[in-house]
Amino acid sequence: MSTTVPREAWAVAVASARLQPHVALPVEVLGLPILLYRDAHGAVRGWLNICAHRSAPVVLHEQRCDRFRCPYHGWTYGTDGRLQRTPGFGGDAGEHALTAVAVHEADGLVWVRPAGTGPGAPPFLHALRAAGAPSAAGWQVHSTSRHPLAADWSVYVENYLEAYHIPFVHPSLSRDVVLDTYRVHVHEGFVTHEVERAPNAPAAGFWAWIWPATMLNVYEGGMNLERVLPEGPGRCTIEYTYLFDPAVKPDQRERALAQSEIVTAEDVAICEAVQRNLDTGLAVQGPLSPRHEGAITAFREWLQTGA
Ligand SMILES: [Fe+2]
Repeated sequence: MSTTVPREAWAVAVASARLQPHVALPVEVLGLPILLYRDAHGAVRGWLNICAHRSAPVVLHEQRCDRFRCPYHGWTYGTDGRLQRTPGFGGDAGEHALTAVAVHEADGLVWVRPAGTGPGAPPFLHALRAAGAPSAAGWQVHSTSRHPLAADWSVYVENYLEAYHIPFVHPSLSRDVVLDTYRVHVHEGFVTHEVERAPNAPAAGFWAWIWPATMLNVYEGGMNLERVLPEGPGRCTIEYTYLFDPAVKPDQRERALAQSEIVTAEDVAICEAVQRNLDTGLAVQGPLSPRHEGAITAFREWLQTGA
């Protein structure tokens, strides 16, 4: 299992609807502290949230502002990331700036690549759309929830990448789908799930995992944006942001929320039990099912190669 998360990759930082103009938002992306800011023209910029002076977080809490003042010694940056003032410094501190990171906003989501170089937009977005991912533009944030998990982030991702466990771990979800039709598709940089819904079950959904730690769980008229936040060996947090089309009926929304929380509790329990066994040092790496676990094979390869 992997306890370190790759940082030279794209991950969703936040839903667009959470970031209004003139708002600065500290957010963690792939284990790194990121500062996002939406300017008056609507563009989003991002930097490492690390002061160029003595490494304090420059913005501690979400705030409306037109500059960023570090709470440690008052070093103040403009919304272009450049150092403007160093009150009481007693000399010329020189030219400094926050370290910019790649940011790309599309379909109601703000993507960030917190480290490394490469294209300024996630290369998989077109393919993800073609595979069935809807746009969340115009959807509203209903709520967020955080689930601490006593397991490596990769244990949770591997669990997400297969449906082999559904009949055993998720009795209510099993009743809503036709398991024989379940297929997991591996694409370049992401994985999608496809399954027919049982008669009388809620309308079909769409599930995608995007390397390395973002998931989009889509229902009719809504989405659970899922981020896995690694916290070192044996610990991570699963963060959910529930987004809904304003036209969705409340009972439809409540049903989606309730099922999501049930399935999460079931996954948390099995992942934590697996982690306890991994921690014995006595677990063997068994064979992966060619029918059900091809995406785990791909994930392990991408971990080796950086995808
Ligand atoms: Fe599961």
